Amino acid sequence: MAHDVIVLGVFAGDAIFEAARLPVMGETLLGDSFSLGPGGKGSNQAIAAAKAGANTAIITRLGDDAFGQLAHDTWEQAGVVPLVRVMPDESTGAAFIYLEKGSGRNAIIVCPGAATGLAGEDMDAQAEAIGGAKVFVTQLEQPLEAAQRGLEIARAAGVTTILNPAPAQHLTDEMLALCDILTPNESETEILTGLPVRTLEEAEAAAYALHQRGPKHIILTLGENGALWYDGQHMRTIDPMEAGPVVDTTGAGDAFNGGLAAGLASGADMRESLKFATAVAAISVTRKGAGLAMPSYADVAQFLNRSNM
Ligand code: RIB
Repeated sequence: MAHDVIVLGVFAGDAIFEAARLPVMGETLLGDSFSLGPGGKGSNQAIAAAKAGANTAIITRLGDDAFGQLAHDTWEQAGVVPLVRVMPDESTGAAFIYLEKGSGRNAIIVCPGAATGLAGEDMDAQAEAIGGAKVFVTQLEQPLEAAQRGLEIARAAGVTTILNPAPAQHLTDEMLALCDILTPNESETEILTGLPVRTLEEAEAAAYALHQRGPKHIILTLGENGALWYDGQHMRTIDPMEAGPVVDTTGAGDAFNGGLAAGLASGADMRESLKFATAVAAISVTRKGAGLAMPSYADVAQFLNRSNM
C-alpha cells in the first residue's frame, strides 16, 4: 500500500529533566520533574503527520532494546508504519532534554544510536515506498548521505520534498536544489547563510539568499512570531497562533513540519497547509513532551474552528 507521507529520520527516547536552570560544570542540582517519552525529530514529525490524518511511514534504524520497543508501541498508537531495520548489537537513539521551568524552553543533546548508520542503501531499499508517496520529509539527525539519497529518489519520482535542516549544518547547493521546501528556524538559517536573523528585514534577506541556492520554497520558522514564506516571487508572513499557555516547546518545529506534510499530502495548497501546520505547532506547545504532544486532526480542526481561522 502506498503511503502519503514518508519520513526519514531518527527515533530517540527522550529523558526530560525540568528545572529552574541548567547546572554548571561540577554542580548537582535538584530538579522539579522527570519523564521519559518518545522523541527524535523524524519520529516526532511522522507522529504529527499521522495524527493529523496522513497515511505515514517512517524509515529509520533502531536497536533491539527498551527504547526500540517504545518506538514501535508509540508508532502503533499513532498509526505510523515502520519501515525499519533493527540492529541487534546497537542501541536505539536517546536524548537528554533540559526543560526550563516556567518558560517551556529547552536545551537538547541527542545521540541517534543505531540511526547513525542510516545510509544511501537504506533509502535504495525503500525506493518504491518513497516514489509512491506524495510528500517526503527529512531532517539532519541521521547522516547527510541518507538524507541526500532520499531526496534524490523522491525528486526523481516527482514527490514533494521537505528538508527540515535540524540540527543545522552546512549544506551543498546540490542538496538544497533537491528541496521543494526548506524549513529552517532562525538559528539554522544563520548557520546555513552566515547572515544574522534578528529582525524581520534580516529574516527576509536570509530567506532570499537561501532561495537563490535552489529550494523552491523557503519557510523560515520564527517561533512565537510565526513564519516567513518566500517562493521566489512573494515574501509573506504567516501569523503565529496561540492555543493556550506554553508549557513545553520541545518538538514544536517537528509538529510544524509534520503538519505541513500532512496538509500538502491532503491536497491543500501551501497557504492552507502553512495555517494547518501553525495550528499543529501551537497546540503541541501547550502539552508536555515531544511525540506525545502531537494533536489529532480533530483537535486541530476544533482549534481552527474556535479561532475562526
Ligand atoms: O525536536 C525535538 C527533538 O529533538 C527531541 O524529541 C529530541 O529527541 C531531539 O531529537
